Order: sequence, then structure tokens, then C-alpha cells
Amino acid sequence: MCGGQSFPNVPLSKDRIFIITGANTGIGYEIAKHCAIMGATVILACRSENRARSAMERMQQEYESEVITAKGNSKPLALEFMQVDFGSFKSVVNFCEEFKKSGRQLHVLFCNAGLGFGPYSATSDGLEATLQVNYLSQFLMVAKLMRIMEKSGPDCRIIFTSSRAYKYARIDVSKMNYTGTEEDFPKWDYYGRSKAYQIMQTYIMARRMKGSNITVNSYHPGIVATELARDVTECWLKCFASCIFKCRCARSPLQGATCGIDLAVNPEHASVTGHFWFTCRIEEPQAFIRDLDTQEKVWKETFVFLKDYITEDEINAMDGK
Ligand SMILES: NC(=O)c1ccc[n+]([C@@H]2O[C@H](COP(=O)([O-])OP(=O)(O)OC[C@H]3O[C@@H](n4cnc5c(N)ncnc54)[C@H](OP(=O)(O)O)[C@@H]3O)[C@@H](O)[C@H]2O)c1
Repeated sequence: MCGGQSFPNVPLSKDRIFIITGANTGIGYEIAKHCAIMGATVILACRSENRARSAMERMQQEYESEVITAKGNSKPLALEFMQVDFGSFKSVVNFCEEFKKSGRQLHVLFCNAGLGFGPYSATSDGLEATLQVNYLSQFLMVAKLMRIMEKSGPDCRIIFTSSRAYKYARIDVSKMNYTGTEEDFPKWDYYGRSKAYQIMQTYIMARRMKGSNITVNSYHPGIVATELARDVTECWLKCFASCIFKCRCARSPLQGATCGIDLAVNPEHASVTGHFWFTCRIEEPQAFIRDLDTQEKVWKETFVFLKDYITEDEINAMDGK
């Protein structure tokens, strides 16, 4: 699987709680399905209840037809749905409040939801959508759930589905939110930036959380045949994407998910933190991503966007205090 790369089949306790964002389709779907098959309780953090519930049904059916037939003992997968729209900070706050009220622990927080390559769009908070959906809202979710993870025992993991497309980013910390005209919107640059910020977040958090029970990693899934290009408007790009998918040059969603599943479940990664991965191997991103000064500037500016939604204690938690 995945060019020789794979993940181990680890028996997981039902008490091990995973939150996976954007789990109703694509890469997130495969991560959720395989972690649930290994036994974990998996919460699908998705914006559409219908899409999430039909994904959950499909996961159960695939589990019964692909896995059970061989072994003969069926069990209902521990799959749950919780609603969240990353285009709204208020929605993230509500999600986290609801999760906190449940009194549960949290062992794996998988920030996978994302969008890209469509025309300019703004969120209900008035921010450019890739910035908020891919980065800021999931940063907020991490911040709000950190204290729970700190108290959830050893081996808690935060994982970001990032991308090698960070290479398209032209980082300008003073212009994290796009304010130009819709026609001039540089979609590759802004998608790349959102993915670059996630890798920088990985490095900063790993430094701040050093020696704690929480590890932080991000990975590139490869070019994967998913719905990610659904908002693309250019005919040439649509044709290009569909050719790549049809001729099997792209990876399947399971192949794309393999490195992420490995990071989430492999006992060998229990204390491995602060890395960017591709095909289950650590990869060194370009120098501008590793620049400490830029990382710290991005980190500081991020809190400016979140100031109305984040508490002092949540900021301290993100600073490892
Ligand atoms: N496919 C690739 O080649 C590739 C390469 C590198 C990195 N990635 C990254 O991989 C991750 C998963 O993408 P994918 O390829 O699996 O694409 P996908 O099939 O389009 O899945 C994206 C997921 O994100 C969810 N999402 C989008 N906007 C959201 C919002 N406002 N609130 C909540 N959820 C939202 C989608 O929910 P809906 O179904 O409701 O829209 C869907 O569940 C993304 O972060 C992407 O950037 C993908």
C-alpha cells in the first residue's frame, strides 16, 4: 500500500477518543474508517449532518463486507457525528463547548478539513475562506481542546493534513487575510499559505509542548483523487484533474490517508513530535517554513484574528504554560 508504505493494525480501546475534521469524504473518510475499525471511538467533525451520517453508514457497510467476512464477528463501529463549520468561529466555539460538556477525554485531534482552488470566497466572519477554514478555525479548535488533551493521559496526538503546496506560498505576515479584488485573488498562493501556516504551527507547538503528553505532526498526503478540486472553475484545471484521477496518476484516498493513519495509531510514533511527513517518512520543508522568526510572527498574528473567541487560559495552553 502507498508505494510500500503502510500503517500497522493496532488494537485500540474504545476509550481512546479521536476527533477527525472533514471526515465525511476523501482522506478524512479513510482515516476515520480505519481508526474506528481498529477500535477507537471516532467523532466525525463535519459541517453537514447528512453527509456525515451517510459516510458513517458506508464505513460500517465496508467494514462488514471487507473485514468481517474474513473473521466472522461483527461489531458496530464506534462512530459519532458532531457538527462544525470551519467557516464560522462561533461554530467552532459551540463545537468545543459541547465536547467539553460531555466530560470526555481526547487522545487524537486530526485537523484534516480543507478547501482550495475555488474562486475567492469570504466566510461569515469576513475572512478569506482558505485562511479561516484550513488554518484559523482549526487552530482555534486545537486551542480550545488543549486543556482536555493535557488531562487525557499519555500519548495524545495532534495531526494536520497539510500539503507540499506550501511551496506556492508567498508569506507576508502583514497580509494574512486577502483584501484585494476577487478577480486578482491568487488562489494557489493563499492555499499554499494556509498549508504553510499549519506546518509552522506544528513546529511551534512541538517546541512549546516539549516533554508534555501531546505530540504534534503534519503530513503531505500526495496528490489524491478526492473532491478537493470541486470548486475549481478553470476548464483546463478541471480537465487536468480528471485526467490525473482517471489515469490513476493520483493516489486513492486510502493511499493518501496512509501516512496520517500511521501518525495517529502507530505506537512507534508515541513520542515523535514536530515533523512534516510524506509517505511515512520525515521530510524537511523549505527554509522559509523553518524560519523561527517568521513562525513566531505568524503565531502572534494568528491570535489577533482569534482575539474575540479565545481566552487567556487557552492562549497559555497553546504557549505550553
Ligand atoms: N486531495 C489532495 O490531493 C490533497 C493534497 C494535499 C493536501 N490535501 C489536504 O487534505 C485534506 C483533506 O482533503 P481531501 O483531499 O480529502 O478533500 P475533500 O474530499 O474535498 O474533503 C475535504 C473535507 O473538508 C470538509 N470541509 C470543507 N470545508 C469545510 C468547512 N467550512 N467546515 C467543515 N468542514 C469542511 C469537507 O466537508 P464537505 O464534504 O461538507 O464539503 C470534506 O469533509 C485537506 O486539508 C486538503 O487541503 C489534499
